[in-house]
Amino acid sequence: MQFEKTETFLNLARSFAGECQAGMRYQMIAKLAMQENLKCLSDAIKTIAKNETLHATQFFNKLLEKGGSKENITLDAGYPFHAGTLAEGLSFAEKDENDEATDIYPKFAEIAEREGFKDVAALYRMVAEVERHHNEIFNYLAKAVKDGTLYKNDSPVIWVCSECGYMHVADEAWKVCPLCKANQGYVNLHLPFEGNRV
Ligand SMILES: [Fe+2]
Ligand SMILES: [Fe+2]
Repeated sequence: MQFEKTETFLNLARSFAGECQAGMRYQMIAKLAMQENLKCLSDAIKTIAKNETLHATQFFNKLLEKGGSKENITLDAGYPFHAGTLAEGLSFAEKDENDEATDIYPKFAEIAEREGFKDVAALYRMVAEVERHHNEIFNYLAKAVKDGTLYKNDSPVIWVCSECGYMHVADEAWKVCPLCKANQGYVNLHLPFEGNRV
């Protein structure tokens, strides 16, 4: 079947657009975090934004590899267009990531498989797994920002200043770093995934 006539062709274009938008939305949320002096939170969100632009690149390249350069692709697709406070933005992101991980990309993988594009199906499954991790990170961050527990823990944990490296074990991070005077927002977060710890 001619690639341009498949649903996978359109799905790759839809996914490229969706990932570009997710990357942009997260950059805007990262900016909101910075406005609240939450530098490490902002950096964590920027890391996820970068992941999304890399996903976009993969979808773009896959489309190019199979169909070549296109003058125009007309799409019928819906994308989230929500905005709000930092806490709301993190909650929206949590939901969007869940939709991608559990609904959209698994469906696109199945369609690709059915249409004979095993490599595209594999790509969708790998990206879906990353989005599941993103969902868990946003889930943690949304709750922590809403409850004011970003720098609080039920039991003592190690807090590390991202600026000077000062460390201290306590239930709660310092307001101002005793060594370099950086504010609390510069204390490293305790994200649910070790690999994403910033
Ligand atoms: Fe993504
Ligand atoms: Fe994601």
